[in-house]
Amino acid sequence: MNRPVHGLAYAKINLTLEVSGKRADGYHELTSVMQTVSLADDLWLEPAAELSLRCDVTELAGDDNLVVRAARALGCGGRFVLRKRIPAAAGLGGGSSDAALALRLLNAAFELRLSPAELLDAATCIGSDVPFFLHCGSALVQGRGELVQPLPDLPVRWLVLLNPGVPLSTARVFQELRPEEYVAPPNTRAWLEPGAGASGQTPQLTNTLEAPAKRLEPAIQDCLLRLRTAGSTAVLLSGSGPTVYGLASGEAEAQRIAGQTGGIAVRFVGRREALAITADSP
Ligand code: C5P
Repeated sequence: MNRPVHGLAYAKINLTLEVSGKRADGYHELTSVMQTVSLADDLWLEPAAELSLRCDVTELAGDDNLVVRAARALGCGGRFVLRKRIPAAAGLGGGSSDAALALRLLNAAFELRLSPAELLDAATCIGSDVPFFLHCGSALVQGRGELVQPLPDLPVRWLVLLNPGVPLSTARVFQELRPEEYVAPPNTRAWLEPGAGASGQTPQLTNTLEAPAKRLEPAIQDCLLRLRTAGSTAVLLSGSGPTVYGLASGEAEAQRIAGQTGGIAVRFVGRREALAITADSP
């Protein structure tokens, strides 16, 4: 490797997230349509024999950062610089997106020529959301998160992300989920139709984890109400939360709702834009 490389690690939302049961390995069986959105961390990788990570959020720069775990999974060195914008433990997949981008940057920079199956193996070992971020854009995600079927990019939608500002552990939310809340069979199909989600014809948003997450963190309900009161027609918890989002009719409406609620206006980001890697230094 002789040149520093850079990519943007985009956040995701779950347009649907249906949990149909608990598996023998302790994980839960999911069906989810995931979508990358335009809130992103910057990640640079510079040539170096030793592995290191510098992060502007110092408490995230430790050895348990998923970027470090990604490099260890491939047995690689390199000097990573991470600039965080996606809040941690927020249901937006920030750490998982950083990890998947780290795998792709290492594969490109060291010319490892890893096959999709080898990248998927490494991603699955790091965390259940990491495989989705190898594809980004819109995708149907199943299993515990490792079965990713990329979908054609959905029509671009604007939305507002609202974060209550408290972290929520994914493991705790899954523990709080009751068997009677499982959804079987899953109902995600409407999002797989061509043109689904264009403004004016939004299939139902659904998230099995919303009820247990609300029981653990009442601030989630306040955030959902704030978005609805500000004029968002469809609101939902993203992933295991606590970030919620509300769809808007366009950019101006999203900016207005964001201004009124203290949220962030973002848009869907398609696969090609989300997977871009460039030669660049921090
Ligand atoms: O895979 P990851 O480490 O990100 O998952 C965090 C926790 O969330 C797991 O330890 C598990 O408790 C829960 N989980 C689950 N079923 C999934 C994904 C995550 O129960 N499909």
